[in-house]
This record gives sequence, C-alpha cells and structure tokens, in this order.
Amino acid sequence: MSGTEINAHSDGDIDTNRSDNPTLASIVEARYSRRHTLFGGTMLGAGLFLPAMLAGCTDDAATPTVGTTTASGTTSSGAVFQLSATVTNASALSGFQWSQTSGPAVTIENPTSLDARFLAPSVSAATPLGFRFTANRSGGGAAVNADVTVTVNPASLGFAAVQRSLADSVAVPAGYTASVLYRLGDPLSASTPDFANNGSDTNFANRAGDHHDGLYYYGLAASGNARDDNNSSRGLLVMNHENITQVFLHTAGATITNGARPEAEALKEMEAHGVSVVEVNRDATGKWSYSKSSSLNRRITPTTPMRINGPLRGHPLMFTRFSPDGTSGRGTLNNCANGYTPWGTNLTCEENWAGYFRRRSTTDNPNRTPKEITAMSRYSVGGGPLGGGAYSWFSVVAADPSNTIWQRLTAEVSGANATLDWRNEANQFGWVVEIDPYDPTSMPRKRTALGRMAHEGAWPGQFIAGRKPAFYMGDDARGDYMYKYISSAAWDSADAQRSDRLAVGDKYLDAGTLYVAKFNADGTGQWLPLVFGQGNLTAANTAYPFADQGDVLAHVRLAGDAVGATKMDRPEWTAVNPANGEVYLTLTNGSATSRPLSGTDAANPRHYNDPRTTGQAQRGNANGHIIRLKEAGDSTEALTFTWDIYLFGARSTADAANINISGLTADNDFSSPDGLWFSRPSNAAGKVNPLLWIQTDDGAYTDVTNCMMLAALPGKVGDGGNKTITNTDASGAQRSQTTIVGKAPGAQLKRFLVGPVQCEITGVDSTPDGKALFVNVQHPGDDNNGGSSWPDGGTARPRSATIVITRTDGGVVGLS
Ligand code: FEO
Ligand code: CA
Ligand code: CA
Ligand code: CA
Repeated sequence: MSGTEINAHSDGDIDTNRSDNPTLASIVEARYSRRHTLFGGTMLGAGLFLPAMLAGCTDDAATPTVGTTTASGTTSSGAVFQLSATVTNASALSGFQWSQTSGPAVTIENPTSLDARFLAPSVSAATPLGFRFTANRSGGGAAVNADVTVTVNPASLGFAAVQRSLADSVAVPAGYTASVLYRLGDPLSASTPDFANNGSDTNFANRAGDHHDGLYYYGLAASGNARDDNNSSRGLLVMNHENITQVFLHTAGATITNGARPEAEALKEMEAHGVSVVEVNRDATGKWSYSKSSSLNRRITPTTPMRINGPLRGHPLMFTRFSPDGTSGRGTLNNCANGYTPWGTNLTCEENWAGYFRRRSTTDNPNRTPKEITAMSRYSVGGGPLGGGAYSWFSVVAADPSNTIWQRLTAEVSGANATLDWRNEANQFGWVVEIDPYDPTSMPRKRTALGRMAHEGAWPGQFIAGRKPAFYMGDDARGDYMYKYISSAAWDSADAQRSDRLAVGDKYLDAGTLYVAKFNADGTGQWLPLVFGQGNLTAANTAYPFADQGDVLAHVRLAGDAVGATKMDRPEWTAVNPANGEVYLTLTNGSATSRPLSGTDAANPRHYNDPRTTGQAQRGNANGHIIRLKEAGDSTEALTFTWDIYLFGARSTADAANINISGLTADNDFSSPDGLWFSRPSNAAGKVNPLLWIQTDDGAYTDVTNCMMLAALPGKVGDGGNKTITNTDASGAQRSQTTIVGKAPGAQLKRFLVGPVQCEITGVDSTPDGKALFVNVQHPGDDNNGGSSWPDGGTARPRSATIVITRTDGGVVGLS
C-alpha cells in the first residue's frame, strides 16, 4: 500500500478511529445530509443512524441504535483498497451490501460483508470511484446507505527499494513474499523418486532440468484439461533449462576415463538441458505449488524429435544421417530466452549451441569447402585441434559407438555425402523452436524463417488485426546484431483460439521476411531485409557467396555483415511495451577488445574503466545498456524507426558525466542487463504506463552485489536528448562520443529483488491478474566454492529454481 492511502489495510485490520481522517468532514456531511434525505429529517423510533460519525452532533447523540461507518481515501492502480463499515445493534439489521455507484467498474470482493475490498483499476489520471454501503433493517422499511469516494491514482512503484546484497538468499521488498516453487531435479511424474540432491539422481527426462531461464505462464481451465488464457490460479509454466552446473549433478563431480565420459553421466547432463512444461496451481490459501503428477508435465530435451519447418525444411544444409531429406532432427539445446504467441504456443530459443559440437578444424577443414569453413568460423562451430565439445559428450562414442545421439556431436565429414554423416548436424541448431504446451504429444517445430544465430529470445510486437505481426530478436555474441521477423500473413484474431496451434504457427512463422537493424548516429534506424538476391546477398558476395534463401537464413550473421548491420554490445532479451509498441533491447556488456575506444558508436557509446573494489578493473562497456526503438507509424510492419538509449548500467559511485549517465543511485544501480519483460496488459501493471522488469547476469558489479531484478516505469523514446560523453581507454587516451539518451529514470526505477550468491536472475512472467510473479534463479553457487546452499540451506547443494512472488495484501506485484 502506498503511504498516501487512508484506511487501507494490507492485513485485514480495520481502523475504526476516523478522527484523523482528512476526508472525515466531507463524509460526515454527506452521511448527515443523506440521513435527512432518507428519513425526512424525522427522529426515528427504530431508526438507523450513523453514530460513530455523528458522535459530535449533539442533536443526535442520545438516540443512535444502529450505525455504520465507512472509509474514504486514495489508492493507486493495482493496489488493494479496503472498504470497511461498522454497525452497532446489528440484530436490527437483516444484511449488508457494498456496491459501486460510479467510476470504472471493479469487482468488489466479499460485497455482503462489513469488510469488502477491491483491486484498484488502471487509470491514466486521478479517478474517483463511488461505493455505497447499504444496511437493510430486519423489520423492513427504508435501508440506510453510506457512500464512499475512493480516488485512484495512476500506477506507481510503491515499494521500498531492496538494497544491494551479497547474502545467500532472495531479498524482496517489505510487503512481499518469495516462495520456492520448482527446483532442479524436482520430479515431474508420480513414479519419479524425490530428488536426493547428492549426485545419485537419474532420469532427468522426468525431472526439472538445470539452469532455469526464460519462462511463460499458460492458463489452464479450472478443470485442468483445456486452455484458458485468463485463469490466474491454474496454468502451465514453460521454461528453458539453458545449461548445467556439471559438478552438482554427480556424486563426486564429472568423470572421464581414457578420454571417454561414462554414458550415464553424459545422458544425465544432456537431459538436464532443454525445456520444462510443468503445471502449477494456486490453492485456496493463496499458496502456489507445482503438480508432480500432471498429465501435461513434459520435458523436452536435446534428444526430443523435432520437425524442421520454414525455408530450411528439406534444404541440403539440413541433410543428416538421421534425416537424409532434411525435414527432422533431434533436440533443442542451450535454450535461453523465449517468446510467446497469441495462439497459445511457446517460442524457445537456442543460444550457445555451437560449443557442444566437437569439430576438429585441423582434420575436418581439408574436407570442407572454403564457404563452409567461413560459415562455421562465423558461428564458432569447431576450431583448433580439439574443436570445442562442451562437457565432452562426444566422447561417449567410445563406449557406445552405435548410439548416434553422441556420434552426431562430432559434426565432421566422415562419409561420402551429408546423408551418411554428421557434417550438417550443427546446422540443425540455432533456431527458434515452437512448442505447443497444451499438447504433450505434439512435436516441436524449428521455425527456420526466423534465422539461425545464438538466439536469445523472440518476443512479439503488438498483434493488431489486419497488420502483419513481428518478432524481435537478439543474437547474443559480441558485435552481433538485432533482428526483426515480419510475417507474410496479416494477423487474423480468429486464429488466437484455434485448437490446431502449431498449424497457426505454420501460417505466421514459416513465411515472412527477416530484417537486421542498422542504428544511425542521428537517432534514426533501418530494418535491412535479408533476402537472397537483394543487395549483396547473392553468389557474387565475395566474403560469403550466398546460394539461396536457405543459405541466407542459415547464415544470417554473414548476411548481416554483408548488408551493413550495426554491431551491438551483445544483444540479449527484447521486450515490447504493450501500451505503445516500443521495443526494448538489453545490451549486456562489451569488452575493451570488442568495443575499443575507437570502436564506439552512437548506439554503443561507452568505453571506460569500471572501478571494481576487488579484482581487476574491467574496460569497455562493462555494465551494459538498454536501447529502445519506436517503429515508424508505431507499426510492426515498419522498415524504419527512431531510437534512444533508455538506461545505462553503472555503479552509482561512477563518473556521472561519462559512466553513470542515467544517474543511478544506491536504490537502483545495476550492471549487465539481460532478462527484460513488460508486465502483461491483462492487469494494471501492464496498462497505461506499463512496468518494465530488468534482470541482471553480471560479473562486473559482483564485488558489491549479487544479481538482481529491478522494476521501472520507463517513459518513451525521445523523452531525453543528445549527450556527448568522453570515453577513456587504459592508456588514458580519450575520445568523445555523442549519443541519444532517454530521460534519467530517477525514482521510476527501483531494485525489486536481489538473488543468492553467484546466481543469475533470468526469466519472468506473471499470472494474467499480475498478482503472482514467477522468476527464475539460475545457477546459485555456480563456482562450487561452497558459497551457496540456496534454496534448501544447510549443507545442501545449491539448485536453480523458480520462485513465485506475491504481495501479502493480494495486490498486483510491483505496484505498491
Ligand atoms: Fe543465455 Fe545471452 O544469455
Ligand atoms: Ca540471457
Ligand atoms: Ca547473459
Ligand atoms: Ca547464466
């Protein structure tokens, strides 16, 4: 509750002492005049009076037998306001009723009780809401009414900022509760044993995976077997399991013998990657839990069969020994951020998949064309004599030579053609993958029209009937690009509730145009089409001769290079303001190598020394920033935009002119933004001036604080102005850089959560009503130095987990 509220009680405590209520006089006056209206000014033998209010009125003081009092006051969007009444001589009454008399309609909870309440609606300016308490007399006759006016103010960040912390715990503001919901290893079927968390556990295909990441809530009908987008008590969480902390999955760490990993260890690690679909429920007391035995629970892993869709379906680049016609594949890998569709599906995005392939370039390159070598180099598939191979899964081939789930990871030329070996296996990864969470038997579809990269996420712009929808995407590598996919099909809102959800996906996600962003120094920008035959995207392109559109989409990085896209400081999540369609992109950080003093530009303007109190200073854009853009005509179909930099990460103590450009303070300073999400427009946090949530994946500011989540009310593109900063490199050389900076956030940005030791905070969504916020805590204690036992405590091994955050008064999370 905000401090400006009067008689609003988060704990159900009813304040009956109105003596200090600044609105009392007007209430009393209203009640008094109403009494005379109701009862004609006559004295009533069995009359209804308002004695508590009229206690000072000597002419009525002797006669009261029944009374009511009510509270007026102010509140703000998303807060719970308590309407309270008192009566005396209740036996003379037959019942009570609260009703609304004016203002935007709200639902009154417990309307036939003395103590009712309502959730303040979204408003753009202070708005009065009228309520009436009606008491009926047992013996009949005229009821007595008492009216209340509650003024609702626009949404605000009403909570007190959480302070920076190095503690091994989750900190949230006063008035909030954070509960652990779904942890690494939690069983997803009735027959799966509880998680021992000592390295002995197996069968991760039926357990929560590791490194929880992007998540989204899909409502279920109360009966549990159908889709209901509006249900805030029962739903499916779809979440990514990006990676693993290997040491915690085994009894005494990972083992390897004579260069070969034991198959059981590697299988456990592989199955701890992928995606969870897990049912969650809110009980009558408000407590959330996941449903261990739900028939809709599902794990999708790096071995789950996949269908290849879009322009690469059947393309020679996708031919493998498993799928000689290039139409199918196995698994999804290193799933980071995500997206959703209005037709009820999930988009999971394959990020750092390349590192899992062990392609020995020294022996494989002689068998490859120069073009293939260029492509694999640009995507970091192999290199050097050992050629990557995360966790050495490929080495299981020695123990199980016939099992192709291991064999494929070599990704080398070993047969006569691509249908006889795994030379193209790495081409099957790096895509956006669509999952139908409501059908556990459905086969996920790789949507190749959205391009192949280190996909961070794929967040949709506004869906407007008759307009072609767009999805915004970051390619998370230093100096890589921001992308936008525009569907060829205009949005038909009748598609939103179709039951053949993946067929709807075929319509919007298999045919469209991919664009890459170019940010100009003057604050304008273009979406450059990645279409074979246009510009340099032809066989005549010397750096990489493109063969066809499939070749362009499988190698969008090379296409972006060819068309002159703007190199960014590691594009992570995108988010779209549901009120105005503006698109935000986190740029998590840049190193001095990737962004030297001479390499800054208006959209990536900083190069400085981040002054750590311990350890080595970090140079470059160590703390990252958030850029945002406004499409021309506010349309997803636009091919031009304007942009500014909404926010710069920094220590609050850093140079305000050139580093802490956004004027961050102890209440909101942060580093390395990654997760980014606007509250849903189905509740007050996502309307009018929606809340933006920012999550950090930081290694720079960790001398002072663990990773965190902040909430913001961010304004809009163009609300600031040009700024010229002076950058300084390690030698002391300086160079000025002009950029475009949004209005400083001030108190419109507050730290909401700090996570446990060595974690990343990533993945966030709410129930449609905004009253429960789901947040993922990824890899606590990742350094395995004993610094964390979160969430189980004591001597337990740390576990990635989903937490659920609620307000103790039941309001919308973030708004008070
Ligand atoms: Fe998985 Fe770019 O974060
Ligand atoms: Ca991320
Ligand atoms: Ca990251
Ligand atoms: Ca991480």
